[in-house]
Amino acid sequence: MTDEAEADSSLEAEFDTVAAWTERAVAELGEDHAIPAACRGSGRPADLAWLADGLDLHRGDRFLDAGSGLGGPTAWLAQEHRSDWTGPAVLAEPMAHAAAASRRLFGLPTVAAWTEHLPLPDEAVDAAWSLGVLDVAGDARALLAELHRVLRPGARLGLLQLVARGELSEELASNDFPTDVSLHRALAATGFRVSDRLDASSLPDAPADWSRRADAVDAVVARDHGDHPDFVEAGRQQEILGRLMAAGEVVTVLLHVQRC
Ligand SMILES: C[S@@+](CC[C@H](N)C(=O)[O-])C[C@H]1O[C@@H](n2cnc3c(N)ncnc32)[C@H](O)[C@@H]1O
Repeated sequence: MTDEAEADSSLEAEFDTVAAWTERAVAELGEDHAIPAACRGSGRPADLAWLADGLDLHRGDRFLDAGSGLGGPTAWLAQEHRSDWTGPAVLAEPMAHAAAASRRLFGLPTVAAWTEHLPLPDEAVDAAWSLGVLDVAGDARALLAELHRVLRPGARLGLLQLVARGELSEELASNDFPTDVSLHRALAATGFRVSDRLDASSLPDAPADWSRRADAVDAVVARDHGDHPDFVEAGRQQEILGRLMAAGEVVTVLLHVQRC
């Protein structure tokens, strides 16, 4: 298998197949499990709240979630900010099962699209976020350039990004982590200005109830699909990432950036 094909099949195993299984587990456990289970990579409410504050959303702002996965983060945003923001929102996610599942789970408009090729006109978006996507996207600059095209001048973009602190002791087929420096260079080169930055480790963990629901969904998926090769592959990816993060070789960074 070529490196590219290996990366594509890792992406599908981790984000598409598991997404379809997650949707079924939510159907079994109940709707109140949907948002925690569908935040795959963005994780915790405290991260989402910090990012959402930087979006400066107003009532009818057009919002884009780029690389939306199962759509949990934008469902959280719509729920938590319903008094000050009413959409419209669009979710863009390249993995077809994940995109379809997010539409069914949350009823939000979703398009199956790579962020490098968004089916949106120029300057069609007032605010956006992209959570845990740049390191799995292959060409981060192409993705940022496309976000620049669809955002209006002055629009806010929230980023949750895994960043490498230096040489990594293990490689992940599906991830190419930027460093802080390369990330800032890519943002500057594509026409974005960083207005705020935070290490996610300084924010509180998810509430116990949130984690309990996410874990319950994971347990149902493991019960039903634990011996499937895609489950094993996704678990292997998660384990490597867990070790890199525990060692501090990869950290989660939150950014508020503005489209120049
Ligand atoms: C770690 S998950 C995060 C999903 C979601 N943003 C969240 O926080 O729950 C990364 C997502 O990026 C998507 N992805 C990978 N390459 C992409 C690309 N080129 N453009 C947009 N999304 C991409 C994957 O399919 C996956 O759903």
